[in-house]
Amino acid sequence: MPILRSFFIALSHNRLLRRFGERSRMGNRLSSRFVAGMEIGDALRVAEAVNKQGMAVTLDSLGESVTTETEALAAAMVYHRLLDAIAERKLNAHISVKLTQMGMSLSPALAEGFVENLARHAKVKGSFVRIDMEDSSLTQATLDMVRRLHAKPEVHGAIGVVIQAYLYRSQTDIEQLLDGGIRVRLCKGAYKEPAEVAFPRKADVDANYVRLSCLLLASPLFHGLATHDEAMIAAAKSFASQHGIGPSRFEFQMLFGVRRDLQRKLVREGYNVRVYVPFGNDWYPYFMRRLAERPANVLFLAKNFFRF
Ligand code: FDA
Repeated sequence: MPILRSFFIALSHNRLLRRFGERSRMGNRLSSRFVAGMEIGDALRVAEAVNKQGMAVTLDSLGESVTTETEALAAAMVYHRLLDAIAERKLNAHISVKLTQMGMSLSPALAEGFVENLARHAKVKGSFVRIDMEDSSLTQATLDMVRRLHAKPEVHGAIGVVIQAYLYRSQTDIEQLLDGGIRVRLCKGAYKEPAEVAFPRKADVDANYVRLSCLLLASPLFHGLATHDEAMIAAAKSFASQHGIGPSRFEFQMLFGVRRDLQRKLVREGYNVRVYVPFGNDWYPYFMRRLAERPANVLFLAKNFFRF
């Protein structure tokens, strides 16, 4: 399986396939397995439906690694429109943003300016900005930026970040974030990382995930445990109940289109669940990472392909 994972992660960087996939009708239909639609309206409709099922949402306007300032500005504007729409429609939703979509690789200062404006806007609207974590070349810069912004009164509390359990450094990062009062989403990690920075074995990633989720659960802040892994979920539930941590003190987070049965089960059991809802035309790298996580998804897609 690690070979297939590497294969799909490598494909996620393939520009030719990306251009073909994102421009073809067939590609757009296949992507609907994990993507809410191409327009803001599609995302808002899905958010409303997910809210009706008793779950919160985080909205991701797809896009990463933009190459011009204009593209970064356009991406930031979509998020501003989302924050307004969330407030107008009284949705239980916030936004998830990637720094490379805000122009991080062009100019970190440019990206920070866009993110600061978004977080200020979110704070005014009573919402929240989660900064997704990308590959390990960006970990330190992402954490530094989130710390700087969180320290500003106009942003304080309206920004949080993601920590990946596969990185060796993550325990130290979590301890520092907790000291700073910053909310964390914990995930396993979706990128291809070398053994110098990340646990190569899944068993070690899982063990670290459990360790780190206990640190988060024990903190007084509200954190998100992002996983579809029933063993991770069982470990979190058990730690919480042993330590008198009620279900209202944290949330589980899952991806749109993945383990809907488990999402609904957790809601029935009284846990908070937030669904990560991506939308937009730039779906290709996101989609390929989902195939990398579970190559069996390819079979599902193949079956649908022959129905077209
Ligand atoms: P694992 O991969 O071990 O899967 C456990 C089980 O879950 C599988 O056996 C299968 O049943 C199910 N499953 C998992 N993925 C599936 C899929 N794609 N399709 C169908 N079934 C699947 N990563 C990152 O690097 N930076 C980030 O910012 C984020 N943000 C983020 C937000 C949210 C809300 C989630 C849920 C995940 C992320 N991730 C992420 C992705 C994360 O790092 C990880 O790659 C996936 O969640 C898969 O890991 P699991 O914890 O689900 O376990």
